[in-house]
Amino acid sequence: MNTHQSDKPLDWVIRFAPLIHAGGAVLDLACGNGRHANYLAGVGHIVTAVDRNLSGFTRIGNNDFYELIEADLEDGSEWPLRSRRFKAIIVTNYLYRPLFPAIIDALDTNGILIYETFSLGNAKYGRPSNPDFLLTPGELLSVCKNKLRVIAFEEGLIENPTRAVKQRICAINRSRNGEPASI
Ligand SMILES: C[S@@+](CC[C@H](N)C(=O)[O-])C[C@H]1O[C@@H](n2cnc3c(N)ncnc32)[C@H](O)[C@@H]1O
Repeated sequence: MNTHQSDKPLDWVIRFAPLIHAGGAVLDLACGNGRHANYLAGVGHIVTAVDRNLSGFTRIGNNDFYELIEADLEDGSEWPLRSRRFKAIIVTNYLYRPLFPAIIDALDTNGILIYETFSLGNAKYGRPSNPDFLLTPGELLSVCKNKLRVIAFEEGLIENPTRAVKQRICAINRSRNGEPASI
């Protein structure tokens, strides 16, 4: 996927980042230039940032807040995070469906998934246009159903930061104790 990356964090990430608890690490998967890793490190989280190409990653904050892992997530090699669990996982503008189970499994108890990417219909407005990189209607809801508690879900044409058809979800891993999520 070769969509334009801005340095500004997405509003969806900014909106739900306050739900991420202190302690433990946040995973920014397919992190690109690190805009979300930097945003989260900037508010005090330790961030593990993974991408197949970290050459464009620019650390803004203190090195102690970052763990960078260069890994191809789609080449059939082992999931690079092994059995680690994260208090939050951020995935934006990236879709590789076979990773869904590993992503959900990597959420710690109370861990928060913040996911936003492009949906079918986006081709009219630009890239990505390949259906492999476009969610089907309600797909993120289906992925989380019966596994995570959904806090918010949106789907449709958005104008910001550019006109695009997207889906976005925030969901919490409360499956192990069944209590309501604080929002
Ligand atoms: C559109 S960018 C999104 C970057 C970032 N999440 C953001 O929103 O700013 C997609 C990212 O996915 C990464 N990517 C694509 N295929 C990958 C793969 N097979 N393994 C790891 N990262 C991959 C690219 O290197 C790129 O940084």
